[in-house]
Amino acid sequence: MTAARLDQTRPEASISGRTVELATLVGAVAERHRLVVVEGEAGVGKTRLLRELLRDPAIAAHTVLEAHCLPVRTTHPYGAIVEMLAGAVDELRAVGPTLAPITGALAPLLPELRGLLPEHQAPLSPSVARHQVLRAVAAVLEALDRPLLVLDNLQWADEETLDLVRFLAVSPRSAVTVVTLYRGDEINTNDLLEAYRGRGHAMTQLELAPLTVPGVAEFLREYHGCADFAAELHRRSAGLPLVVEELVRELGDHPTSARLDEIGVPARVRDAVVERLTHLGRSATAVCRAVAVFGQPATEADIAALSGLSDRGMTAALEGALRARMLHETARGHYDLRHPLAARAVYEAIPGPRRREMHLRAIKRLSGSARPGLALLAHHYRHADELDRWVECVLAAAQEAADTGVPAAGMRILENALDDAELPVSAKEAVALRLSREMLQGIATPATIDRLRTVVRDWPLPRDVGAEIRMNLGLVLVNQVGQVVAGQREIERALTDLPRRRTVRARGMATLALPQVGFVPVATNLRWLAQAEQACAGTTDSEAIAALRANRITVRMQIADPGAWQVIDTLPAAPVAPSLRRQLGRTHLNMADAAVWNGHFGPARHHLDAAAELVDDRSAPYLSSLAAGTELRLLAATGPWDGLAEKADRLVAAVGQMGYLAADALLVLGWLRTWRSRSSDALRTLQSATEAAPGHVPIVVTAHAGRAAILSARGQVTGARAEAEAGLELVRQKDNWVWAAELAPVATEVFLQTGRAPEAAALLAEFRRGIQGRDAPLAAAAELVCAALLAQHRGGHTEAMALFAEAAERYRALPHRRAAARATELSGLCAAEAGDPAAAVRDLTAAEADYAALTATTDALRCRKALRRHDPRRPTRGRRGYGNALSPREKAIAKFAASGLTNREIAELLTLSRRTVECHVANIMRKLDVSSRTSLGGLLD
Ligand SMILES: Nc1ncnc2c1ncn2[C@@H]1O[C@H](COP(=O)(O)OP(=O)(O)OP(=O)(O)O)[C@@H](O)[C@H]1O
Ligand SMILES: [Mg+2]
Repeated sequence: MTAARLDQTRPEASISGRTVELATLVGAVAERHRLVVVEGEAGVGKTRLLRELLRDPAIAAHTVLEAHCLPVRTTHPYGAIVEMLAGAVDELRAVGPTLAPITGALAPLLPELRGLLPEHQAPLSPSVARHQVLRAVAAVLEALDRPLLVLDNLQWADEETLDLVRFLAVSPRSAVTVVTLYRGDEINTNDLLEAYRGRGHAMTQLELAPLTVPGVAEFLREYHGCADFAAELHRRSAGLPLVVEELVRELGDHPTSARLDEIGVPARVRDAVVERLTHLGRSATAVCRAVAVFGQPATEADIAALSGLSDRGMTAALEGALRARMLHETARGHYDLRHPLAARAVYEAIPGPRRREMHLRAIKRLSGSARPGLALLAHHYRHADELDRWVECVLAAAQEAADTGVPAAGMRILENALDDAELPVSAKEAVALRLSREMLQGIATPATIDRLRTVVRDWPLPRDVGAEIRMNLGLVLVNQVGQVVAGQREIERALTDLPRRRTVRARGMATLALPQVGFVPVATNLRWLAQAEQACAGTTDSEAIAALRANRITVRMQIADPGAWQVIDTLPAAPVAPSLRRQLGRTHLNMADAAVWNGHFGPARHHLDAAAELVDDRSAPYLSSLAAGTELRLLAATGPWDGLAEKADRLVAAVGQMGYLAADALLVLGWLRTWRSRSSDALRTLQSATEAAPGHVPIVVTAHAGRAAILSARGQVTGARAEAEAGLELVRQKDNWVWAAELAPVATEVFLQTGRAPEAAALLAEFRRGIQGRDAPLAAAAELVCAALLAQHRGGHTEAMALFAEAAERYRALPHRRAAARATELSGLCAAEAGDPAAAVRDLTAAEADYAALTATTDALRCRKALRRHDPRRPTRGRRGYGNALSPREKAIAKFAASGLTNREIAELLTLSRRTVECHVANIMRKLDVSSRTSLGGLLD
């Protein structure tokens, strides 16, 4: 068996969640209690606890005699007693000469001790012989030092063993501690306990309960070092260590809670369940089976209906199953199997024809109730082989889920049906179509998308059905998954196959009309919008009208058309129908998103609030993730940043495999890391934002801007220019310059740094033309920064400072606090360059304070360094200044440089970055006033 093999190859992990229990047992043994009882159901961890007890150093002083009773009645009487004594032969040899004559009665049972035991005359009567054996064992035990007798699985003990335990209670001189473990539901030990209690012996009785959630967490940490899904594992195992252990084992080295769904019933768990059923008897087994088939907690009436037992017989059997802890009461009068795996094991052990009959009974029972759960009914029809009714129920259940605002539940039911090999061919198309429609509302997982891709590729579908599924697939690929190009291709193909379905066509065209996604020019997007309007003309389908209106407004907002605001004013108040509410929510959300890109932060907040009223996490999970992403971008601009990184991390974790929905959060994390931590982390994060949403133009362009800024600050100007140019290329292709609000100033700086002033000037002209007449205040402020940088480069410092100041003011008005601080910083640097230290100090001080207030630590540090350079009065803290003399480090580097080492070699030798060495060498040459490394040599002493 797998488990046994693994047991041998893997060292036993330490015991989890049993600190108190173990301490109780150790204490009882140390105090020489006469009887220590550990009671608990199968697999709860009795034997494991015993092993831990026997390992405890406090036990070392005892002579331990151990026996494990077996579930088979041995033909050999005294089986357990023999096992126990045979295990202690060495100890017995040691005390051999002192053994009392009665111990000779053991000689026939223990040939290995022949010669050691005194001569003994066998009595004639069997009952006397039996008594003598008991006395002999007691005498042997007395001869040992602090004997500790351990009996595991007492529920399977033979009569002689039970007699021995009773006998030890009455044996006056015995000082034996008996530790015994058993399943309380399989043996009645009242008389035995009474034998000890009645004589006033000290005893301990421990009822071992399943692990708690923290106990399971400890178990998981022990195995895997993390306990992420302890609660889920606890739910599935009822905390039974045997089940926990098997599940963890099956999960292998990469445990996730999703993997739990894929695991069948582990063999050891199934064996344990089946074994317990055999002990339960027929009626109680029938009760358990009824509950397992029913599929949800069952009442007594449900159980009676499914099991066919009479009321009286059923009640007694139910009590038996509860006592044996096969069932438990979930809510008053509702019973279920202890854990989901037990339910499956019981279910799978029912013979097929019987199972089908029970499902038919369940259908009858459920159909009689006022509101039968459709999903459950579908399940029973499926397993009763009533396939047509099954399909009806599946479709009705999906409809019900959509109507009650839980599309994800509907999707699950449909997907299960689609995966089922028994789904009739005639039904496949209806189920797939339905799934493709539900997917638009819920969150489509990669598995859902794969399924539908297979459907449109491989199935012989009627043309219009195939086209609609393809259309929905395309919409999801574009809107939710970020596979824009593939999605647009599906939509275009669907459009050619759907000549007559006007509203479906309109929906596809309206998606192709959205400028943000995909790389066709805005003019093409606008043509699609016009076609969508045409397709929809005259329709009375209110959802189609609402969907088109949402996209019409979105298109205008995304290109910052000033007329968009009037259209927004015509939006209806909250409608009642869920589909219309969702469309209106989507409209507000798109408004908010475009408004943040454009710099209309006040209205963005308003639309986010309006959207929050209309969409919720359950009915439109994908919309609420988008809302969360937009909100993060808004907060990154306006502040405050408290907890922003954590919120972004949470969103990334929550959307998991749907990476596209994480793009906003990744962009924000990239910014935050740029502004306040390590630039290499920031670069990586910005890269993953692009990878999450490769077809989302503003995200990709803005991530290019972020990476260009980081590389330029590091002095990697070639890389910076490549990033800037790639971003600009996209903007040009798209022809929507409002999205260059972050990029244009960075690109200008990079061009000027690399001696490309004419390109910077051309960019400004292009940018200016591109945003002319657009209502995009963020881009308008950025244009001022570009103009200021160019003026500064031309030597027009006064003009440049005025432009920087105006830009800062515009940013502050939005407010985009970090951009405002940056404009002020640039103004300060410009003043310094112009030889106006007073203005430089004023602006840099203001920028530093603004950055610090925002917690933009990297930015603030940069300003502080600039201030140190430009403010003669500012005290230099920390390191001692060496004026024009070389610092010790500079001396070392100068020596290396003079000896002919390159900067790279020096960097490696001193474990510094090459850039740092370059700086040092530049400072050395400045301080020593030399122009080449070769002339350094003579100046060094
Ligand atoms: N506290 C624990 N920490 C880690 N593993 C445990 C713990 N308790 C039990 N286990 C593991 O769970 C499995 C079942 O435990 P164990 O065999 O001790 O149960 P049991 O109560 O003796 O059951 P049975 O009545 O069938 O003998 C074992 O493989 C054991 O190693
Ligand atoms: Mg055991």
